[in-house]
Amino acid sequence: MKAVVVEKPGSIAVVERDIPEITETQVLVKVKAAGICGSDVHIFHGKNAFATYPRVVGHEFVGEVVKVGSQTEHIAVGDRVAVDPVVSCGHCYACQHDRHNVCSSLQVMGVHRDGGFQEYVAADYRQAYKLPDNIPWEIAATVEPYSIGAQVAHRGRLTGDDTVLICGAGPIGLIILQVAKMKGARVAILDIVESRLEKAKEMGADMVVNGKTTDIVDAMKEFTNGEGFNLIYEATANTKILATCIRDLPSQAGRIVVLGFTTQELPIRQVDIMGRELEIIGTRLNNHRFPEVIGWFKDGKVQPKEIITHTFPFAKAGEAFAFNDEHPDKVLKIILTFD
Ligand SMILES: NC(=O)c1ccc[n+]([C@@H]2O[C@H](COP(=O)([O-])OP(=O)(O)OC[C@H]3O[C@@H](n4cnc5c(N)ncnc54)[C@H](O)[C@@H]3O)[C@@H](O)[C@H]2O)c1
Ligand SMILES: [Zn+2]
Ligand SMILES: [Zn+2]
Repeated sequence: MKAVVVEKPGSIAVVERDIPEITETQVLVKVKAAGICGSDVHIFHGKNAFATYPRVVGHEFVGEVVKVGSQTEHIAVGDRVAVDPVVSCGHCYACQHDRHNVCSSLQVMGVHRDGGFQEYVAADYRQAYKLPDNIPWEIAATVEPYSIGAQVAHRGRLTGDDTVLICGAGPIGLIILQVAKMKGARVAILDIVESRLEKAKEMGADMVVNGKTTDIVDAMKEFTNGEGFNLIYEATANTKILATCIRDLPSQAGRIVVLGFTTQELPIRQVDIMGRELEIIGTRLNNHRFPEVIGWFKDGKVQPKEIITHTFPFAKAGEAFAFNDEHPDKVLKIILTFD
C-alpha cells in the first residue's frame, strides 16, 4: 500500500509500506478520504512540539472496514466509519474523570503515532464510529474538525442566549460559527483576511470585524451595547489577541475558551479575571463527540460543504500541502481522496 510520510520537516513523500497488522481489538480501515489540517501543515514545517519523525500524518480520516479483530464489537466488515484519532490510557486522572482527550499519556493518530494519510489504517474498534450511507466520504472526512466545534461548545457551555465572539475565521473558527448559529447565539467574528470574513458573513455571522481596519473594542461596544461578549473563542493563536480578549472584551461572568497552542507568554492582570469572575477555559481535541457530530451531519444541522474548498488525490499530497501554503486566501479545507 502507499502512505504519505513527512520524513523530516520540509520533506513529504508517498512511499510503499506494508498493510498494517491488526490486534484482537483493532479494525483495519481502507481509507477513502482525509482532510488536511493546520496541525498536519505544522508537522510538515517542523512547528509541532508533539510530533516525531518520520510520521504518516492525517488525523481527519474516514473509510471502509475491511477486517476486524476477534475481540471487537459493534463494527463489521463493510461498515463505513469515521475514526477518532484520540488514543488514551484509560487509567490516569483525566481518563478516570471522563476527560480522556487530555490523558497524561495522550497519543493522537497522525501526530504521536501514524495517522490517516495511508491506504490502510489499523485502529481500536472503540475509535471507529459508523457513518450513515447518505454522508459522502469527502464530507465525512470533516467529522473530526466538527468534533472540535462540538467540544468547544461543550467547554464554553454555549447556548442560544450567548453573545459570542470568535477570534479567527479559519476552518476551525468558521466551524465554531456554524455550531454557534445552530445553537441560536448572536455571533461576531474577527479576522484580518477579507475573503474569510466574506465566507463568515455567508454562513450567518451577525457581525464580521476586520482587525486591520476596525478596532475590535469599538466593534464590541456597538454589538453588545457595551456589555461585552459572554463567550469568546480565541482561535487565532495570537497572544496579543488573547490579552485583548481577557482585558477588554468579556462581559461580567464571561467565558474565554482558548484553542491556540502557542508557547508565547502573556502578561495578564488578576483584577480583569477576578472582578468579572471570568472563566478562562482550555479545550483540546474532542472527548467522545463523534456521535453528536455524525447526528448533526445526518440531520443537516451544519454545513460541512462550505468548509471544503479543494480536493486532491492522496498521491499528490505534496502538491496539496504546497497549494495550502500558497493560497491562504482561497483554501479552507483540502480533502485528499483515495481510490
Ligand atoms: N484546541 C484544539 O483542539 C484545536 C484543534 C484544532 C485547531 N486548533 C487551533 O485553533 C486555531 C485555528 O485553527 P484553524 O485551522 O482555523 O487555523 P487558521 O490558521 O486557518 O486560522 C487562524 C485565523 O486567524 C486569523 N488571524 C491570525 N492573526 C490574527 C490577528 N492578529 N487578528 C485577527 N485574525 C488573525 C488568520 O487570518 C486565520 O484566518 C489554530 O491555532 C489551531 O492550531 C486547536
Ligand atoms: Zn485537525
Ligand atoms: Zn489517561
